[in-house]
Amino acid sequence: MKFTLLTLLSVGIPPSIGRMLHATRRGLVPDSVTSNVVPMRKHIVPSSAHRSSATTPIYRRTAAVNLPANLTNVHDVYYIIDMVVGNQTLAVSVDTGSSDTWFVSDPLECVRFWWQGPEYLPNCGLAEGFVGNLSGGVLDNPPFVRSYMDTTFVSGYYGFDDVTIGSITAKNQRLGVVNYTFWAGDGLTSGLLGLGYPFMTSLDGPEQNQPPYDPVFTTMWKDKLIDPLFSIALSRESEDQGETGGEVGTPQGSYLALGGLPPVEVDEESWARTKIHGVDAIPEWMFEQSDLGLYIIKPDSWVYGRETEDVDPNKADKGAITTNGLTTNTTQFPVLIDVGATLSLLPKGLVQKLYAAFDPPAKYLSTNGLFFALCNATVPRFGINIGGNTFYFAPDDLLRQTARDPSGDYCRIGVTDVNGGPYVLGVSFLTSVVAVFDIENTEMRFASRTKY
Ligand SMILES: *[C@@H]1O[C@H](CO)[C@@H](O)[C@H](O)[C@H]1NC(C)=O
Ligand SMILES: *[C@@H]1O[C@H](CO)[C@@H](O)[C@H](O)[C@H]1NC(C)=O
Ligand SMILES: *[C@@H]1O[C@H](CO)[C@@H](O)[C@H](O)[C@H]1NC(C)=O
Ligand SMILES: *[C@@H]1O[C@H](CO)[C@@H](O)[C@H](O)[C@H]1NC(C)=O
Ligand SMILES: *[C@@H]1O[C@H](CO)[C@@H](O)[C@H](O)[C@H]1NC(C)=O
Ligand SMILES: *[C@@H]1O[C@H](CO)[C@@H](O)[C@H](O)[C@H]1NC(C)=O
Repeated sequence: MKFTLLTLLSVGIPPSIGRMLHATRRGLVPDSVTSNVVPMRKHIVPSSAHRSSATTPIYRRTAAVNLPANLTNVHDVYYIIDMVVGNQTLAVSVDTGSSDTWFVSDPLECVRFWWQGPEYLPNCGLAEGFVGNLSGGVLDNPPFVRSYMDTTFVSGYYGFDDVTIGSITAKNQRLGVVNYTFWAGDGLTSGLLGLGYPFMTSLDGPEQNQPPYDPVFTTMWKDKLIDPLFSIALSRESEDQGETGGEVGTPQGSYLALGGLPPVEVDEESWARTKIHGVDAIPEWMFEQSDLGLYIIKPDSWVYGRETEDVDPNKADKGAITTNGLTTNTTQFPVLIDVGATLSLLPKGLVQKLYAAFDPPAKYLSTNGLFFALCNATVPRFGINIGGNTFYFAPDDLLRQTARDPSGDYCRIGVTDVNGGPYVLGVSFLTSVVAVFDIENTEMRFASRTKY
């Protein structure tokens, strides 16, 4: 029997019960911390050494892909896990903006683009990949080909092998084996773990209409090894910044939890839920199907401003609600929850207001192609209303002290304005919450992390 929130309310249980209940095969249960937890390592790539954007693949008919003004140095934060393929351990970065799991294999050809010139020595920044043959054999057709928003691509073939993450093994899992690529990696990983829905795997080949297959996470829950949900806690601390904070096994760590919650402290009163929408929710993708593909949610509203500010009601944004200096914009639009994106990409009309709320205001640095503010600027509040709770970005994520312009005086804003979708909530948002991706109930749940 399936329970809905409505039946829960009608039997008289108050909606604010702290820890949120969700329906599973076993009935209505609270989310609980799982032992199937995999620590993630955060890795920051120095800005100058790198050139890449979000790993969100280009999906059907996205000719006019909306990129930040300049691709330079957008993607500089990676969350890495160890994944065992057969008996080989591979480090891969975790991505909720795609569905395939792939890794490179010897022999590998790393290529340069024509515009990089013949003198350019290609460096794909990939760690050593899989050696030898996959135990389950390979597919002759179709080939495995993916192009990503930042012009990178991977290609190769599909093969089958057992994949173990933490203590969970997906048997005879279909995987992408890459032997030809243009990639801008972090030097530590040899591939990607894609945690999206099966539908996205069908967008392959020239017609992008291959039969979908079950990605790693789908295989795990269909084989009843875990409940059909996973959750993610991203820490702001990184291994590169010393052992304190980011250490594995501490509440400050970053985790991928399969089938339950990660072992981090959250504000239990802040749990909120919202529906996951089908791929047709993003108009720019022009899908006719309403299949579930990625983690697309529609927040209720957006909040920004400086709380202490006295706002002259005549100066308040027209058509918006302003309370205690904070303005609420109730325009709703779909956003992707994407662990594979460093920054959050949101509509220009909203983000310009956020930039202006910095003191002194943020400004566009053409040398970097992104908005920056003085590193000592006063950081405004910026929050998202989801399911009745407001989740605020942390000041450290809004003004990123680790991402500076060459002068060292200006820090990058963690939110970038784009002229159209798909909009993205990336790492700059996710470090403040625990995010539960509940496939069985087609909903996402969030709770604020307590200070760490
Ligand atoms: C992995 O398995 C292969 C084939 O079963 C074997 O030849 C190889 O020695 C194993 N490698 C390790 C590191 O255990
Ligand atoms: C891998 O497979 C190919 C073709 O099936 C075969 O020629 C080769 O010997 C295999 N390599 C190993 C290390 O088993
Ligand atoms: C990659 O693998 C495919 C399938 O085995 C093969 O046809 C192709 O030649 C390989 N490419 C490179 C660059 O090794
Ligand atoms: C609210 O945000 C939207 C973008 O989502 C923007 O187009 C609109 O101008 C904003 N409204 C106000 C009053 O700032
Ligand atoms: C993008 O960045 C590069 C190098 O940092 C700079 O030379 C170029 O002018 C920038 N382009 C734009 C459109 O801002
Ligand atoms: C903020 O930083 C800038 C550049 O580093 C400096 O010129 C300015 O004096 C600082 N302002 C304050 C209030 O510390």
